[in-house]
Amino acid sequence: MSNKTPGLDVVTGAFGFTGRHIARRLLDTGRTVRTLTGRMHIQGTPADPFGGRVGAVPFNFDSPVALADSLSGIDTLYNTYWVRFASGEVTFDQAVENSRNLVRAAREAGVRRLVHISITNPSVDSHLPYFRGKALVEEAIRDSGLSYAIIRPALVFGEGDILLNNVAWALRRFPFFPVAGDGHYRAQPVYVEDLAALAVSAAEEPENIILDAVGPEIYTFDELVLLTEKYVGSRAKLTHMPPSLALYLSRIVGYFVRDVVLTRDELVGLTANLLISTEEPRAATLFSEWMAANGAKLGAAYASEMDRHYRMRPRGLLGN
Ligand SMILES: NC(=O)c1ccc[n+]([C@@H]2O[C@H](COP(=O)([O-])OP(=O)(O)OC[C@H]3O[C@@H](n4cnc5c(N)ncnc54)[C@H](OP(=O)(O)O)[C@@H]3O)[C@@H](O)[C@H]2O)c1
Repeated sequence: MSNKTPGLDVVTGAFGFTGRHIARRLLDTGRTVRTLTGRMHIQGTPADPFGGRVGAVPFNFDSPVALADSLSGIDTLYNTYWVRFASGEVTFDQAVENSRNLVRAAREAGVRRLVHISITNPSVDSHLPYFRGKALVEEAIRDSGLSYAIIRPALVFGEGDILLNNVAWALRRFPFFPVAGDGHYRAQPVYVEDLAALAVSAAEEPENIILDAVGPEIYTFDELVLLTEKYVGSRAKLTHMPPSLALYLSRIVGYFVRDVVLTRDELVGLTANLLISTEEPRAATLFSEWMAANGAKLGAAYASEMDRHYRMRPRGLLGN
């Protein structure tokens, strides 16, 4: 297209976790980056990881014209948008609809390539709205006529994550750590920088691709917590209990930190081994090595999903 700005990409969620690492990588290679975000208020503040270098535009999911406008003239759309759980106005159905609108707008705007971050083992037959919703969005992308790369990470770790940070936070503060069931279910962590590198290189592939993004190590949940405990310097005792009791305890903690610490669906997904891949690992960084280098500071402060994504948003920026 003649009106393309050379090297302009859009990353949804560049002020967030995965999007931030993708955006930083793009900036480092000389690209210009714009973000679509629900957290416009971060831009140019001390919380802005890019010191104003990344232009921010609201999601505008409900306005096809404004949405296509915000994608006009870009080369690649890196999409990290999704929601962790339904709460208040935020629902998975709405997140699917928002994502479909984004894909339509990308097509309308003439985006060259869509690199979409999904999750391992999505399925339209899943009874888990997260995994079913992800599969529906993938379907919309495959049917869109856009050139695409769909990247499916398992459990993502690295600077800015919420889930593993809060495991470390809990290990630091409590004398025991509740583990749902036998703790033998498994996860295959992938380093966020490896994920970002895969996303950026997938933008240049000529073919439509769908691939898992997983690291070289698979851990049982017990092993994952014990390794974290070792590098965090905690002596908390892993205590196995019925999943309903572990969930109940997570809700008590959630009450005090004013957050949703863990959802039933996340627990079901984890215990069903949905966060592992049958493909060869494409990411090289070892969770164990990263923990050895970063465990000392991991979990020093609680990271709140509700604060990050469900509170203090001006109306209309909730992604609907
Ligand atoms: N983190 C993991 O362990 C993990 C594992 C597997 C797959 N994934 C997938 O990887 C992608 C990125 O995940 P992430 O953890 O890096 O996410 P994130 O940065 O916290 O959020 C990604 C994007 O979704 C938006 N978002 C999140 N919650 C929202 C809500 N409640 N309402 C409206 N918008 C919301 C964010 O909005 P803002 O721009 O306003 O921040 C951001 O644009 C997602 O598609 C996720 O499904 C993550």
